[in-house]
Parts: sequence; structure tokens; C-alpha cells
Amino acid sequence: MDIRSRRDDDLRELGEVLLRVRDLDGYPVYLPGEDTARFLALKEGDLAWVAVLEERVVGHAALTERVRDSVRVVLEGAGVVAPFAHLVRLFVDPGARGRGVARALLDEVEKEATRRGRALSLDVVTRDHAALALYASRGWRRVGTTVLDLPEMPPFEEYVLVNSSD
Ligand SMILES: CC(C)(COP(=O)(O)OP(=O)(O)OC[C@H]1O[C@@H](n2cnc3c(N)ncnc32)[C@H](O)[C@@H]1OP(=O)(O)O)[C@@H](O)C(=O)NCCC(=O)NCCS
Repeated sequence: MDIRSRRDDDLRELGEVLLRVRDLDGYPVYLPGEDTARFLALKEGDLAWVAVLEERVVGHAALTERVRDSVRVVLEGAGVVAPFAHLVRLFVDPGARGRGVARALLDEVEKEATRRGRALSLDVVTRDHAALALYASRGWRRVGTTVLDLPEMPPFEEYVLVNSSD
């Protein structure tokens, strides 16, 4: 398996992967118009990686410095101060699961956060059990709970996690 920086020409394949993930797991909870390009769009300073297995893009993870205000409040309460290294958009193609793809992506993300000297954080919907098991297996710890408010949808409860090696 190869982990490399995301390229623009990965977006079509990644969009197809994301729709399969959405259909199976309901992740992401909000994908208006099935606009995968919008969901995957990077802002200045963001970094993204893909996992490539047998010449197919099968996974994705990104790091951002931007968090919602409600997440920021939880992080600051836990002593994690801006600028953040916040893990976002982690997903693996259903057909490639259980083979360490997410683990390999997280290795890369954690290496980058260490390189920047940043604490690593994320927010995860409380019903995403596989993701919660993954983070727990890598020593992430829960520092609070928040609510994800989305247009025309019921609110989702989320946990905010930080990497315990901080
Ligand atoms: C969570 C997700 C990324 C895991 O991807 P994956 O490549 O299958 O995970 P890995 O094979 O690297 O698993 C690493 C560890 O995570 C845990 N894990 C992964 N999937 C699990 C599951 N379904 N149930 C329990 N634990 C699981 C295990 O501890 C596993 O280690 P092990 O294989 O030694 O038991 C994938 O299920 C996914 O894309 N889910 C939907 C999107 C999502 O919820 N993203 C998180 C957003 S915050």
C-alpha cells in the first residue's frame, strides 16, 4: 500500500469512494447534492493524503487548522490551543477495509502533526463505531462532547478527541 499526497486528479475516484462510504455508513452525515468535490475541497494550509492499493485510490485523510467554534471551545477547555492540527475527512472504501488502510493514513497524519509540533485533534459522530474503535486503538482520548447542527437535519452528537501523545 502506498500513502501519498492527494492530487487533483484523485478527486473523481475519491468522490466515487466517498459515495460508497456514504451509502454504507452514512458518512458524511451531510452531503448536499452529493457534491463530493465540495466536501473534499481544501482550504489554504490544509493537507490531504490518499491511500493507494493495487493502483486504486481506496482511502483519504486530511489535516486542517480550521475547526468549528463549538469544537474550538471543547479543545481550548482541554488545553489544546490554536493553531490546531485537526484530522478531517478520514474514510476508507468499504471494499478495502480491515487491511490497515486507515492505520497507515493515521501514521502519516500523526507524523505531520509531530513535524509541525501541533497537538492532533478530531471530532467524530458518536454513532461511528468503527472510527471510535480505530481511534481508541491508537490511544486517542475523549476530551468532550459537542453537537453538530446541520441544515434541515436533526442534531448529531459528537465526541472531540485528542491524540494522547500530545
Ligand atoms: C473507520 C474506518 C476509516 C476504518 O478503516 P479501515 O481501513 O478498515 O481500518 P484499519 O484496517 O486500518 O483498522 C485499524 C484498527 O481500527 C479498528 N477498527 C477498524 N474497523 C473496525 C470495526 N469495524 N470494528 C471495530 N474496530 C475497527 C481496529 O482496532 C483495527 O485494528 P485491527 O485490524 O488490528 O483490529 C472505516 O471503517 C471508514 O471509512 N468508516 C466510515 C467513515 C468514518 O466513520 N470516518 C471517520 C470520520 S471521523
